Amino acid sequence: MLRNLFLIASLLLPLQAESGADAWLRHAPLDEASARTYHASLPAAVASYTVTPVARSAQRELLRGIRGMLGRTLRVQSGLPKESAFLLGTLADLKQSAPQLRLEADLPPDAYWLTTASAAGVSYTVITAANDRGVLYGVFAFLRKIALLEPVARLNERQSPYAPVRWVNEWNNLDGTIERGYGGRSIFWDNLQARQDLSRVGDYGRLLASLGINACAINNVNANPRVLAADFIPQVARIAEAFRPWGVRVALSIDFGSPKTVGGLDTFDPLDAQVASWWKARADALYAAIPDFAGFVLKADSEGRVGPSTYGRSHADAANVVARALQPHGGLLFYRGFVYDHHADWTNPKNDRGRAAYDNFHPLDGKFDDNVVVQIKHGPIDFQVREPASPLFTALEKTNQAIELQITQEYFGQSRHSVFLVPMWKATLDFDMHAGAGATPVKALVAGKTFHRPTGGFVGVSNVGLDENWFGNHLSQANLYGFGRLAWDPDLSAESIGSEWTRLTFGNDPQAVETINSIQLTSWRTYENYTGPLGLQTLTDIVGNHYGVSVEASERNGWGQWHNADEKGVGMERTVAKGTGYTGQYRPIVAKVYESLESCPDELLLFFHHVPYTYKLHSGKTVIQHLYDAHYEGAAAVDNYIRQWKTLQGRIDDRRYDEVLAQLNYQAGQAQVWRDAVNNWFRRASGIPDAQGRVGRHPGRFEAESMRLEGYTVHDVTPWEAASGGQAVSCPLARCAAILSYQGPAGWYTLHVRYFDQIDGISRFRLLVGSQLVDEWTAADRLPTRRIDSSSSARRVVPGIALRPGDEIRIEGMRDGNETAALDYIEILPKAN
Ligand code: GCU
Repeated sequence: MLRNLFLIASLLLPLQAESGADAWLRHAPLDEASARTYHASLPAAVASYTVTPVARSAQRELLRGIRGMLGRTLRVQSGLPKESAFLLGTLADLKQSAPQLRLEADLPPDAYWLTTASAAGVSYTVITAANDRGVLYGVFAFLRKIALLEPVARLNERQSPYAPVRWVNEWNNLDGTIERGYGGRSIFWDNLQARQDLSRVGDYGRLLASLGINACAINNVNANPRVLAADFIPQVARIAEAFRPWGVRVALSIDFGSPKTVGGLDTFDPLDAQVASWWKARADALYAAIPDFAGFVLKADSEGRVGPSTYGRSHADAANVVARALQPHGGLLFYRGFVYDHHADWTNPKNDRGRAAYDNFHPLDGKFDDNVVVQIKHGPIDFQVREPASPLFTALEKTNQAIELQITQEYFGQSRHSVFLVPMWKATLDFDMHAGAGATPVKALVAGKTFHRPTGGFVGVSNVGLDENWFGNHLSQANLYGFGRLAWDPDLSAESIGSEWTRLTFGNDPQAVETINSIQLTSWRTYENYTGPLGLQTLTDIVGNHYGVSVEASERNGWGQWHNADEKGVGMERTVAKGTGYTGQYRPIVAKVYESLESCPDELLLFFHHVPYTYKLHSGKTVIQHLYDAHYEGAAAVDNYIRQWKTLQGRIDDRRYDEVLAQLNYQAGQAQVWRDAVNNWFRRASGIPDAQGRVGRHPGRFEAESMRLEGYTVHDVTPWEAASGGQAVSCPLARCAAILSYQGPAGWYTLHVRYFDQIDGISRFRLLVGSQLVDEWTAADRLPTRRIDSSSSARRVVPGIALRPGDEIRIEGMRDGNETAALDYIEILPKAN
């Protein structure tokens, strides 16, 4: 009785705390009226005609979805039920078992068909496809319609994927760490083996299948050669088994030196016969254990990885020797186009990393075997906040290609910032490269449609982890969702993908949908504004953690991410007329647009041109004023996201509400650091003040180094722009204090204490006004730095503090380990911001 009461009570609580583990596949109960409509129109039974693990998942998922959303358990039948029922199966199986339904369709692999059929006066809802994966995709599509409250009666809908390649890559190391992963440790590996518990792999397979993603490379592109050792195959096989019920095939990233390091040969020369047979033997052994193995991903001659250049061979030689080993089994070899010289001479103004992919691969067009796919990052550099489409997309007419999009937010705030990447990807996918008669957008080129290639498509670098919500940030899940939806149908708009995701993930409350969508859809522009607008690139510490701000980190070194900022101007001159000639890699119509200052879009101006700070943009603003304004706009936009988010309290579950709010609060603090750092840097470089007088002026801000210090010592911070005033104070003792005598008018204030939260300690802080303790906190976040810099810069907001002239504000810091309870400044702000 008590138990029943509890059950009823819990059903009445609509907003249970949610962990985010089910992402967009929550199958949450519909409101009563909608559920009633579906109850009236949907069958009560299901019968399946295909018996494979994938087909079984399809039936199980249909049951789970209907149960979750509509509170009903479908009756499982066999044969052709005498009552209205869902019929699931491949078209071939359905036609064989129920010819009287007269189902006919021409369906490519993985496509699905949702339709109705009838026999002997009974009508059926049919979910069918050419293969079992397609049936599963059809079930997910059908359930999505219900979750989105779309009609499902009398459907007749065929959906084919835009491209055959819809893969994800996971840069997971065998020790369980993830290169550029921000959602915890690996779901695949631990301690140089497949994890004991692979249940999250199955859960991930379900998420991937719901989007139509059909393969996953399960280790870092910077590959450990061990993955090809004979005794390692069972480890890979276990992961393949966990994915198999979801139609997700496993692939491996490989190291090109493996014939030597693993195989014991004295060479890895791709033209050596022994090397070729070694690759063949490895592929044969893998396929013997994993018949649905998908293929290999190869990063060679890039960022220190060995490659064919060791033997003076070409990328085509390298790709083909491996591809030929896979070919008899139907496997694909993805050869990464991300090849450049990271020891480039920065003093040579003709050098340009942007040119590298095209220069390396264009001459080889036509030399790659048909099961090789050149995997090309969407821009010519490396997932920066704004890049033009890679010119390599038009340089390969006789070679398969795939676009590589980065779902994990390496240069986008590493999941600590919310940035919805779909609008950025859309800008590239829809961009017309003018590579032939009619429109030739990037999406058509990579899918092999323009040049009639046998294969091609989309690869997303996903890097999910063991965190309950997969990415460490609920809103970041939208990027995996968006990638998958675009890989299936790149013609979908960012708006529709955003709103689908929001509704599936947070429910159909209109205000929640509108608010979350508006945050997501503007978030790329916002992030660009407070990091590197006008094609400057992300301006992060590119030689370090790729997270915090460091304007000069990309300059004067061999990595080639230069933006050439000095006291006179800024931007990389990539024109044919005056620069590196990069613009000439595009087809003439596109080249012309980028070559000329008049037609180059503002948002890419500094990617293509070096201009003085006073250069006037199309908007009428000078470059320098745009930089200042954009940074203020970006930081203010995040403050506004917090206000918007707060309207959702009670409209979504508390747990996710609280977690996203905390994330946005953090992001707002970081956006301010970026704003001040970049603006101060350009203010100093250009010598041109902000026309609005904001840069370098912070009313209410008191630098810690100017406060009365007990124990704290003053340090210069590197780079100087990472801390306000270029300095911070740190505590060499167990306990220190910084004291300020307040001299402003009496009133209520919000205090912002900016401190540093390094990763190697948990220091504590206390804030006192007079002798009264008004707040205390610990610096316990896991930020990616041991240094006092912009990555560790954190903000404590303490609202509602009464101050009178003469009040003493005292911040006490207690260091821990190497973390020195460092402080940057305190801001005393009159209103609650
Ligand atoms: C970036 C990233 C590396 C990665 C590389 C790649 O440079 O920072 O971690 O290995 O891309 O895509 O190969």
